[in-house]
Amino acid sequence: MEVAQVLCMKGGNGDTSYTQNSLLQKKVISLTKPITQEAISNLYCNNFPASLCIADLGCSSGPNTFFAVLEIVATVDKVLKKMGHQLPEIQVFLNDLLGNDFNTIFKSLPKFQKDLEKTTGAGAESCFVTGVPGSFYGRLFPSESLHFIHSSYSLHWLSHVPQGLESNKGNIYMASSSPPCLLKAYYEQFQSDFSLFLRCRSAELQEGGSMVLTFLGRRSEDPSSKECCYIWELLAVALNDMVAEGLIDEEKMDSFNLPHYTPSPTEVKCEVGKEGSFTINRLEVSQVNWNAYHGEFCPSDAHKDGGYNVAKLVRAVAEPLLVSHFGDGIIEEVFSRYQKIVADRMSRETTEFVNVTVSMTKRG
Ligand SMILES: C[S@@+](CC[C@H](N)C(=O)[O-])C[C@H]1O[C@@H](n2cnc3c(N)ncnc32)[C@H](O)[C@@H]1O
Repeated sequence: MEVAQVLCMKGGNGDTSYTQNSLLQKKVISLTKPITQEAISNLYCNNFPASLCIADLGCSSGPNTFFAVLEIVATVDKVLKKMGHQLPEIQVFLNDLLGNDFNTIFKSLPKFQKDLEKTTGAGAESCFVTGVPGSFYGRLFPSESLHFIHSSYSLHWLSHVPQGLESNKGNIYMASSSPPCLLKAYYEQFQSDFSLFLRCRSAELQEGGSMVLTFLGRRSEDPSSKECCYIWELLAVALNDMVAEGLIDEEKMDSFNLPHYTPSPTEVKCEVGKEGSFTINRLEVSQVNWNAYHGEFCPSDAHKDGGYNVAKLVRAVAEPLLVSHFGDGIIEEVFSRYQKIVADRMSRETTEFVNVTVSMTKRG
């Protein structure tokens, strides 16, 4: 599967879009804000660029795109004001794959400019925003042109589904029943992708430049552990039920695998060390409840149902991939079944996503 051609979050502003169903990812950006703040403060300890170039990789579309940018720019503003300086000119690059809904992003640029003015007092002329379509598993920017790179909930997507997954019948990702060769294939794909990512970013960052990356990850050293695979195992249950009823072709099911890998902190540390261009300043693990509305105001009665919220979250992320493989005829039925399966499991156990955040600086 050519991931760069088919992977994207559900675009537009509709009820099932990423725009309407990305509260969980927003919570993760907020959760990791202290790490971003520390990285930006450190950036200004080492060096004082007259203008600042920052990039958000895997920016998607919807409220989180500019939410992340505003958090970064507001942090720069705070750090510089403390030192008695004004906000410099900032160039922001928003990167995602070719299928990303860049139009929806740029329609919200005026709102971002207003929020920027409210937050920092700076006018639109202090922050220039550019879209950069392409895969972050390749070069995106000229050499040594960036000061700071941010990426949240994007790097767990691989460049390819690993080769040799024929033995993964009935599963769509690693599962407790997966054979060791399959776990190895996924891990090797992660190693080669992440190491390529580091090499490209190292070429693009200036010396002393830094990155804060958050992966959907795991605490355990077992890549098939429930903490990272369960959400997809339950989607496989819904798909397999439909196979059993003749609604999905078994061969289609057996040939579908997710281009996804949720690394442990040790695996991230190991790749950064092997690649050698960066020093790790922080490596942290956090967690969020599967249900983004857990402990929050629910906009409707439907949102009080955790199964409903999680099914919509996963649908906004996985629908384009599923449609490209199975066609769009199965989608409503799959997610209606998935909602019930997830609601049942959530009523019986604590379900959380684990986040791995790494903050690092390019070595001299
Ligand atoms: C779950 S969204 C996260 C979006 C946003 N950062 C947030 O926190 O809400 C993951 C994004 O990563 C993008 N992505 C995945 N692989 C990518 C790649 N190789 N290059 C660029 N973007 C990629 C996807 O298209 C998707 O928009």
